[in-house]
Amino acid sequence: MGFLDGSVAIVTGAGRGIGRGEAIELAAQGALVLVNDVDAAAAAEVVDEISAAGAAAAAAVHVGDCSDPAVASEVVEQAIGRHGRLDAIVNNAGVVRDRTIAKMTPSEWDTVIAVHLRGHYALTHAACAHWKELGGGPGHAVGHIVCTTSTSGLLGNFGQSNYGAAKAGIAAFSTIVAQEMARYGVNCNAIAPAARTRMTEGAYGDIPAAAAASSAESFDFWHPDNVAPMVAYLCSEAASHISGKVFGVQGDVVELYQPWTSVAEIANGDKRWDADALRGRVGELFAASGIEPGPQNMMARLHHSMTDRSRR
Ligand SMILES: NC(=O)c1ccc[n+]([C@@H]2O[C@H](COP(=O)([O-])OP(=O)(O)OC[C@H]3O[C@@H](n4cnc5c(N)ncnc54)[C@H](O)[C@@H]3O)[C@@H](O)[C@H]2O)c1
Repeated sequence: MGFLDGSVAIVTGAGRGIGRGEAIELAAQGALVLVNDVDAAAAAEVVDEISAAGAAAAAAVHVGDCSDPAVASEVVEQAIGRHGRLDAIVNNAGVVRDRTIAKMTPSEWDTVIAVHLRGHYALTHAACAHWKELGGGPGHAVGHIVCTTSTSGLLGNFGQSNYGAAKAGIAAFSTIVAQEMARYGVNCNAIAPAARTRMTEGAYGDIPAAAAASSAESFDFWHPDNVAPMVAYLCSEAASHISGKVFGVQGDVVELYQPWTSVAEIANGDKRWDADALRGRVGELFAASGIEPGPQNMMARLHHSMTDRSRR
């Protein structure tokens, strides 16, 4: 018996990495999971794994590009038509094409923006249209959405202007969908995960499990499956009151992010600013806030970092 018994969930990009762990955890908690991926073999393997683990509800493969709105509608129809309902979606699929901005090609930009941003839009749009028709309401949950952002978008990571722009967009998307869908009984949150996967091997090089596990006992901090329990919780009735939030999730740590917040202001006494006057006043913003005027590496402030694993 799990806390998602009887529910139906879709996880995009669930053929490997973090999405694989999420699909397996949702199934272990009793959900029937539609395992979406562009890689048919990888998706089928995850479904086999779920069946072999003896999950209460069978999983099903869905092969297709989640950034194609027709594909996204199809998987929502598969959930409702074949399995009777849709309770949760996890927008997880992702790719990277890292390059500094002066060298980045239009195709590297478009691919990343499409998979992440249009991917989130397409499935969320199809699911929300269905949930809106169902007519839930505050106190009567009909759907749960988990989006996948990244510290690259929240803080800014060198060489990832395409990916960071998409991920910052996803954080904003998630908080807006949360506001729009609250009246229909749908909550929407985003996670910023960190884990050792094919994606991070590309970006950060090999992160050996043994080194990752070198601290407390034998806990493998960067294992991708560590992200899944929080996602399963966010897909449950128990988390229905939580919406529009961004959580950092890695290892045994769950963090709550604060949205962009104004920390200092200057005003010009109810008159439009004169550009020249601003030259003498903008420095007050930095003095009042302690923020440096030049570019800052905010990623260096992460409590848990894959680039500086001495902190873990
Ligand atoms: N691994 C990390 O540390 C980390 C950090 C921050 C955010 N993320 C995010 O977590 C999510 C999962 O990443 P991961 O590390 O598991 O990567 P991964 O490369 O291991 O897995 C991504 C999966 O998505 C699938 N996929 C790619 N494009 C798709 C599409 N258009 N439609 C359907 N499936 C598609 C791939 O085939 C693959 O199976 C991504 O959104 C990623 O940006 C990961």
